[in-house]
Amino acid sequence: MDRILVTEKIAEEGLDVLRRNAQVDVNLTLDKAGLLAVIGEYDALVVRSATKVTAEVIEAGTKLRVIGRAGTGVDNIDVEAATRQGIVVVNAPASNNVAVAELTIGLILSMARNIPQAHASLQGGKWERTKFSGWEVRGKTLGLVGLGRIGSEVAHRARAMEMTILAFDPVVSFDRAEQMGVELVTMDELVQRADIVSIHVPLTDGTRNLFSAARIAQMKPGSFLINASRGGIVDEAALAEAINAGRMGGAALDVFNSEPPAADSPVLGNPKIITVPHIGASTAEAQTSAGTEVAEGVATALTGATPRYA
Ligand code: MLT
Repeated sequence: MDRILVTEKIAEEGLDVLRRNAQVDVNLTLDKAGLLAVIGEYDALVVRSATKVTAEVIEAGTKLRVIGRAGTGVDNIDVEAATRQGIVVVNAPASNNVAVAELTIGLILSMARNIPQAHASLQGGKWERTKFSGWEVRGKTLGLVGLGRIGSEVAHRARAMEMTILAFDPVVSFDRAEQMGVELVTMDELVQRADIVSIHVPLTDGTRNLFSAARIAQMKPGSFLINASRGGIVDEAALAEAINAGRMGGAALDVFNSEPPAADSPVLGNPKIITVPHIGASTAEAQTSAGTEVAEGVATALTGATPRYA
């Protein structure tokens, strides 16, 4: 019987799918050394975003045939090393779109109305009505970096809030964007025109540090930045610097260069930067869907057939 190691919490429905044909061990406390010590016993490994499936782990996984990622990106898996070893990598790219899009809308409204700050103030015994005066999102320009599965869900919801929507996405056609009520622009134009920029691209060599100090310096004065995609895309020190200098209005971050961020991270403890702990995909619905989608992919790949998202 095949053996599957699950190192992060996935939905029970997904575990049930895996248990149909394999012995499943769920171990949520393995550190790097622990993973290296046991991985050689398993035919498949299932992770979310915290487990780093490096070339070293893959090489130690001498029996591994499948690696499953319960979520959208595969940036925590060395796919090249896996492919070299003939290991199939499967993920669940459709599972989290709505969850991340809804969080993004929540972050837009939180920045516009200072909701987290006002909550903390009142909980702290203060009554500061004037301090938390905000702005309406209606009529503001939202710039989406990436108009794929998640970006287009954000666009759909932002239209209902009467926002003007721009997007930069080199693989989306003008016709498709037009159907979504979105104006396709260059990256330069997007950052110069948008009141709020929201990032919806995977972390790749091409997107790493995409929001560098130079890109941030190009942004419209007083604008806001949201990152609910991946840490590593935004230069956190440059972002904090632009906000502290008053060149930008603020930011909202769900993802960080290192997770959790270090206590002295420039994006922590800044009242103009809203931070949440990588909860974009953390809804009941998205977790059920990510767990079952990845489990079905892993089970299919273990039979030798080609899974839907490989
Ligand atoms: C994703 O890529 O889908 C999420 O980051 C998964 C997660 O929350 O671990």
